[in-house]
Amino acid sequence: MTSLTASHAADLVAALLFILSLAGLSQHRTSRAGIVYGIAGMVLALVATVVVAAQSITAGAVALIVLAMALGAAIGLWRARRVEMTQMPELIAVLHSFVGLAAVLVGWNSYLEVEAHGTAQTRIGADLLGIHHAEVFVGIFIGAVTFTGSIVAFLKLSARIKSRPLMLPGKNALNLGALGAFVALTVWFTISPNLPLMIAVTALALALGWHLVASIGGGDMPVVVSMLNSYSGWAAAAAGFLLDNNLLIVTGALVGSSGAYLSYIMCKAMNRSFISVIAGGFGIEAPTGRGEEQGEHREVRAAEAAEALAQARSVIITPGYGMAVAQAQHPVAELTRQLRERGVEVRFGVHPVAGRLPGHMNVLLAEAKVPYDIVLEMDEINDDFADTSIVLVIGANDTVNPAATEDPASPIAGMPVLRVWEAEQVIVFKRSMASGYAGVQNPLFFRENSSMLFGDAKQSVEEILRALSTNGSHGAAPVARQATVAGR
Ligand code: TAP
Repeated sequence: MTSLTASHAADLVAALLFILSLAGLSQHRTSRAGIVYGIAGMVLALVATVVVAAQSITAGAVALIVLAMALGAAIGLWRARRVEMTQMPELIAVLHSFVGLAAVLVGWNSYLEVEAHGTAQTRIGADLLGIHHAEVFVGIFIGAVTFTGSIVAFLKLSARIKSRPLMLPGKNALNLGALGAFVALTVWFTISPNLPLMIAVTALALALGWHLVASIGGGDMPVVVSMLNSYSGWAAAAAGFLLDNNLLIVTGALVGSSGAYLSYIMCKAMNRSFISVIAGGFGIEAPTGRGEEQGEHREVRAAEAAEALAQARSVIITPGYGMAVAQAQHPVAELTRQLRERGVEVRFGVHPVAGRLPGHMNVLLAEAKVPYDIVLEMDEINDDFADTSIVLVIGANDTVNPAATEDPASPIAGMPVLRVWEAEQVIVFKRSMASGYAGVQNPLFFRENSSMLFGDAKQSVEEILRALSTNGSHGAAPVARQATVAGR
């Protein structure tokens, strides 16, 4: 077998391993196997690519490639071992930005190798040159949009910039205008390729990527991350065409289409318009009503909460990002165990985008050994709140915000939420009156049946456990306080 057919065979096996990987990752049970298939496919793809490249380049160049791969692998392993689960989406956003940047560099390199040399000196036939011109432009465009879009997503997810949507006047016209300009520039470049057009399309796509993601509000960031995942796949596929690498085309298409489908599923779960989100919040108006006085909130102490819990008939715990930050899942699991021993019915209500990554809460609760059968999805538990004695909102905010169902002007209007306020009593565990990830104030905190238990969620739950073990009952009534909106 020649090395070329061996490399084609390796590509085929690697592509099959990637498909098996995606299939495996679609279920908890098979997800570990899915990761192993993915790693095996990637190792095979890298080895095959380097072996083929080694036949046409110098030994020094091969050594450089191996060195770059070893460096990249070392940095990747180091980051993956250190990253906190709550930082996962921002790490993914950074990785997407690398794919976008790589596609831009491949596009520029391809231009410098082919178009910049004039048609006569290239290995591409004259009839295929027009296609090559268009490939260069499409690759650079998708890559640059992915690059800056992912950087903005990273900055928002890591709270380095505000998660509120950027509302430039005529933002929809800006996005559509940029798309129109891209089509016109592509036609122009196909007819007459030149450097100024390359610079123009790169700058245009960088600006568009930035604007598209900056225009999307915090509550829609989960969809944005999966959408950028899809873009990064298409950027890789475009690079595959330019590099004449079939495996990169197949892999890019797999990532692109699975990311697009995931975005679609998430949009449906969040009651969002898919088109609106991929078009940078198309049709979403500037949010209103921030900074208004909301009324009074009540405070409750851990001992009082413990007493109420001990007397409760049924309790639902709705965990959120704050539980993950505080690493409160273990004391929460212990509280669940103790309450159940006392005959209290305890269940969990998990919102599909609670926390910062899909399945975030389920993973934390499983880690703390909370029984699976009492962890319910939002749709399974939403009708049961009205018949519940106490809801413990532990570090959740946007996912329990009644404004989503009651205020059509709210930036999160229409997003399905856990209807915790229907319970007899709600206790909200958080450190302050600050808003949640979407930057939207939460009227839940000011409801008659809500009280705030201020402090780090882990410490608060541990205090409740201590109070329960001494059977502490200090029946002071919740303290009412005047509160105004406190933004982030
Ligand atoms: P958030 O709305 O993010 O609110 C979390 C709350 O936890 C904050 O209000 C914060 O209030 C509190 N908190 C933080 N640290 C705490 C600590 N140590 N102890 C106690 N409380 C603490 O939470 P959520 O309800 O889980 O909603 C998730 C949000 O993230 C949604 O808007 C969602 O769209 C977005 N998002 C989700 C994903 C995925 S895929 N799940 C990805 C990206 C973005 P204090 O500061 O006052 O304590």
